Amino acid sequence: MTDTTSTDSMSEVYLQISSNILESFPKFRPPVDMYYFDENVAQVKKYHEAAARLGKDKQEQVSAFAEDGVLFLLRDDYRVYAKHLSKKLGLVLTEDDLSAFEVAEIFFIALCDRMEDFIAQPTEPAFKALIKDISILVEYMWIDPCRAGHFTETLHTEYSLPAHSVNTMFVGLALFTMVLKGKLDRAALVSLALGLIMHDMGMANVPPFILNKPTKFLRSDRDSVENHIEVAGKKLKRLGVTDTILKQCVIMHHERLDGSGYPMRLSGKDLSMPGRLCAVADAFSALIAERPQRGPRDFKQAALVLIKDPKRYDPTLTKLLAVLVTDGVASVVCEVESD
Ligand SMILES: [Fe+2]
Ligand SMILES: [Fe+2]
Repeated sequence: MTDTTSTDSMSEVYLQISSNILESFPKFRPPVDMYYFDENVAQVKKYHEAAARLGKDKQEQVSAFAEDGVLFLLRDDYRVYAKHLSKKLGLVLTEDDLSAFEVAEIFFIALCDRMEDFIAQPTEPAFKALIKDISILVEYMWIDPCRAGHFTETLHTEYSLPAHSVNTMFVGLALFTMVLKGKLDRAALVSLALGLIMHDMGMANVPPFILNKPTKFLRSDRDSVENHIEVAGKKLKRLGVTDTILKQCVIMHHERLDGSGYPMRLSGKDLSMPGRLCAVADAFSALIAERPQRGPRDFKQAALVLIKDPKRYDPTLTKLLAVLVTDGVASVVCEVESD
């Protein structure tokens, strides 16, 4: 396939493959079709078919193309590329060609994978892998806090525990950035991100037949679900986690301001900021997800449900959430930051 493009339309159709990215591809079988810009005829030409063997001569040629900034992949192949990058997440910090939305998607894919591993086996290696990728996410936010706004553009509405966990973290981090007007504390951010993403780690022990029940929960079902906080507490202990912010997210996310939550029935000022934040982000993420008992709620409706419940959910946070889902995330967060 040969295609003639102007420089402007090129970036709509193609993504540049940098030398760093190229080095991360399997040497002999790159995962995407590769194209190069032939300056002599001002055309983009296909150079290599995905997964076909790339001989030594061609490897040298694509390296030269990448160094010259003329190696590309189709933006339509973005999903394959995103999956690849999600395994080598640090690369997103150096790739200027990716949009904030695309990076948010890559983080979503990567962190869902890490959470899937961690939920299946909440052991130290899986925890360390999660911390490593969360640290990259925080570094990415640190460079420009407004980027947190884009996280909420990639929320997934089909329910799975990893997707719910990442949704909760993305919403919570965007809210936190708004609360602090972009003035973030890096260490606290890592703790908070971990707490948000791990908040439901105890749910792995709830039998799927209960979670997928199309009918109303019985008291015994509710007990089993509510037990996920205690289960999580034990798992955190086994992992030797002492971080207060992380633990508060996990232990307090079902507590409510009026004392109607669980497991400790905390109320008012006994509910810490991370606990309140995780409660709002978690409830919102639960509402926007498709469940066996009901369909997903529209983002604005979901925010409205929480804003109408100020006795249980922190009204400062639910108001910010409403702004976040109404006015367009990136601009809102940036605007708040520069106030
Ligand atoms: Fe929960
Ligand atoms: Fe949750």
